Amino acid sequence: MNSNTKKVKELYESSTGVYLATTGYYIHGCAPPENFNLPLYILSKLNVFDGNSVLDCGCGMGKMLIEMAKLRPKINFFGITISEEQYKICNQLKNEENVLNVEFILGDFHQLSFYFNEASFDAIYFNESLFHSNNYKQVLSEVKKILKTQGIFYSKDFYINYWIDKYIPFTSGYKLIKYIKENYFYHPVLHNEMIKAMNELGFNIISFNKPNYIPNFQKVIDFEKAYGLKTYQLIQKTNAIHWRELIASKKSI
Ligand SMILES: C[S@@+](CC[C@H](N)C(=O)[O-])C[C@H]1O[C@@H](n2cnc3c(N)ncnc32)[C@H](O)[C@@H]1O
Repeated sequence: MNSNTKKVKELYESSTGVYLATTGYYIHGCAPPENFNLPLYILSKLNVFDGNSVLDCGCGMGKMLIEMAKLRPKINFFGITISEEQYKICNQLKNEENVLNVEFILGDFHQLSFYFNEASFDAIYFNESLFHSNNYKQVLSEVKKILKTQGIFYSKDFYINYWIDKYIPFTSGYKLIKYIKENYFYHPVLHNEMIKAMNELGFNIISFNKPNYIPNFQKVIDFEKAYGLKTYQLIQKTNAIHWRELIASKKSI
């Protein structure tokens, strides 16, 4: 585990309880409105069928997968998280809900091919977790190994709008991004950089759009106030970042 991943793990060992008390079972900044069925929405993007296998990378407390597993009992769902605290909650929820078609793994998504067989998944998704990696290209090449040809990759993350905010210190955007890196160990990249990396790594981009719902940022603000963070203040001074859902498929060669 590299030093950035160790920090991510420590962050979630200490913050998962606070998330539970503020954002509930989900840990995401770009949350949908109340009563929006997020598991169903993401499932609809994955293009999966009975008998298929789906992996949630950075599965948090496992709620998304458990809800998906209840919706689609003939699909096999797997989730991986780096946090022991979350792993325990995932299994508690699984037992409480008596769901059989979901399995959780405590592990590092930089080494997916250590836990899973080659070409074993029909779809792999990251809900606000990919850029916790400071080496997202390594994660994507691991994704590629365990995804079937034509299999679907989905991620929701935020991206940096302008190169100036990535490279020029003292802009409001640079300060925001630095704050996020230092406090959440999250490493967003420029939109174009991601498109280039996906193509080079062997994925066909299907779409790269805003999430199709109006985000509700109130819960993450409640979390930040409870945990002593202030991204919600810095973000008001800049339009340096934007949320996107990236959907791609693994190329055949
Ligand atoms: C912002 S949370 C999102 C959780 C979940 N997807 C949700 O929507 O509630 C980020 C998640 O990524 C996981 N994560 C971060 N780095 C990881 C790594 N290297 N390997 C496995 N999981 C990781 C964290 O443990 C956490 O579950």
